[in-house]
Amino acid sequence: MKLGVFDSGLGGMLIASAIRDQFADIDMLYLGDTLHLPYGNRSAETIFQYCKASMDFMFAQGCRLIIVACNTASATALRRLQQEYLPERYPDRRILGVVVPTIEEALDKGYKRLGVIGTNYTVSTNVYEEELKKLNPEIHIKQQKSPLLVPLIEHGGQAWLDDVMDHYIEPMISGDGLEALLLGCTHYVLLKDRLRAHYGFDVMSQDEIIPPKLVQYFDNHPEIYRDLTHNGFSEFYLTDINENYQQSASEVCGVDVELKLAEL
Ligand code: DGL
Repeated sequence: MKLGVFDSGLGGMLIASAIRDQFADIDMLYLGDTLHLPYGNRSAETIFQYCKASMDFMFAQGCRLIIVACNTASATALRRLQQEYLPERYPDRRILGVVVPTIEEALDKGYKRLGVIGTNYTVSTNVYEEELKKLNPEIHIKQQKSPLLVPLIEHGGQAWLDDVMDHYIEPMISGDGLEALLLGCTHYVLLKDRLRAHYGFDVMSQDEIIPPKLVQYFDNHPEIYRDLTHNGFSEFYLTDINENYQQSASEVCGVDVELKLAEL
């Protein structure tokens, strides 16, 4: 069986690539719901329905475990997927998100002044602040909706990225400053080097967080790891494909990627 990685678009390929670096031989299936991208401005019910259709596709293709790499989907739909959808449709399969492992990492690091950036939807759910404060009420969190970053990354707006990042981040570092900035969106992995070069705080990037957390998960759930096949295959599905995606997907993965169309 396969390990699935799901995102609303191509950004999750950065997480899939990092997982591939950690696990060279497990068979992986990636699905990006490009037909419905971006999720960040949609309603909770719509995001849940889109996720459900995507999970159906991935489980039908033989996924044992699916990582929802999209922060917007993890923040919005994951609980319902785990509590309503899985028991009814696929009780023996598993779905994990990226919010809980990222929160665990922030707590392990002991940060007290943490910034969070994400899509409008992710920040408005308040999921990072609520969950972190539940476990450590002393953490001081500054959040910032950063809706322009994904379109700039997706549409070749690199020349404006530094200015836009400054625009979002300067207000967060006024006063006491930040010890660390949590990148709460798949696409922001691409910004981590710029952020590290420009600012003095630590940068929490999910491509560095998720693979070691998955190692721990498999240690605790050897029965899931055992069910995965180990031929080193990667399959990449999108719900809509154009030439742009073809080129971006190969750039993100660092190798030529054959994209297949998923009809949900
Ligand atoms: N993949 C989404 C996330 O991680 C960002 C893009 C979107 O809005 O769909 O939040």
